[in-house]
Amino acid sequence: MLVRPMRPDDLGAVEAITDEAFHDLSVRTTIADLPSPSRRSPEKSATWRRRAAHLVRHDPGGCWVAEDDTGLLGISLSSRRDGLWALSSYAVTLRAQGKGVGTAVLDAALGHSQGCLRGMIASSPDPRAARRYRLAGFTLHPTMTFTGRVERATLPVVERVRDGSATDFDLCDSVDRQVRGSAHSVDHAMIAAECRLVVTDHTTGRGYCYVQPGGGPYLLAATNRRTAQRLLWESLAAAGEDSIDVDFVTAAQEWAVDVALTARLSVYNLKYLALRNMKPPMPYLPSGFFL
Ligand SMILES: CC(C)(COP(=O)(O)OP(=O)(O)OC[C@H]1O[C@@H](n2cnc3c(N)ncnc32)[C@H](O)[C@@H]1OP(=O)(O)O)[C@@H](O)C(=O)NCCC(=O)NCCS
Repeated sequence: MLVRPMRPDDLGAVEAITDEAFHDLSVRTTIADLPSPSRRSPEKSATWRRRAAHLVRHDPGGCWVAEDDTGLLGISLSSRRDGLWALSSYAVTLRAQGKGVGTAVLDAALGHSQGCLRGMIASSPDPRAARRYRLAGFTLHPTMTFTGRVERATLPVVERVRDGSATDFDLCDSVDRQVRGSAHSVDHAMIAAECRLVVTDHTTGRGYCYVQPGGGPYLLAATNRRTAQRLLWESLAAAGEDSIDVDFVTAAQEWAVDVALTARLSVYNLKYLALRNMKPPMPYLPSGFFL
């Protein structure tokens, strides 16, 4: 088996491995009253490949594949921003799982964390992933996933929130640094290409939220709880009749728990926010990919 840096021409096969591995995992860990897991749509696959290409471009030392003469076996994608290392994706093809491939590609990505004290991973419920993260020195913070249809009658009138644009990325970076000690910098433009940005820039508080195309937050940071709640409500107001998720909510984010329960979403406990040398940032809802 060879472990080597990921190349742009790997991205088709890399995306296919992650789709297969995460679909298999969701079938194995599914909760009876949730909708059955489905494969990524062609649109979602294309979004995934664009995000991965962005990391291969900006963090070539953080993106790795393992291969043998049958093809790609495993992948890891990670980034380094302002002294924070983050793992964006990590998967091994089904036939090769449980044989040490995951350990090898994670070790390669962790090489990119040299010089970064702090680390962040949005961990799946796979016990093999959780084991690897703890053995790499991460603390596993259990997280809640809220899911369901937003009950529209619960939506409040949201004040002090406006649509954002590229001119707000400095504001986003400054809120990032205050809340989680490091900016998303080049990632903002990438996320804004897929999600609507809403911001609050007021004397009483500042913050931002990327709203998923179908509603619900993709990534949210704010300087205080009240501002964070307004931004979260704005993201929930964008939801239609379809089910949405508010994911990776640690117990530190009770401001979000209260909003999600008021909107009558159902709460489940499945995943982890794995952190190294840092406490859960607050008020903060990480994205799974850009953290
Ligand atoms: C998570 C994943 C990438 C790990 O890759 P892998 O090649 O299977 O991992 P490895 O074989 O290197 O290591 C797995 C470890 O878990 C252990 N393990 C296996 N089954 C386990 C179980 N049910 N419970 C706990 N530990 C288990 C193995 O013994 C091994 O630990 P050890 O080397 O200390 O003995 C891979 O299993 C996968 O693709 N899972 C689905 C996608 C996913 O959840 N990705 C993580 C995203 S956050």
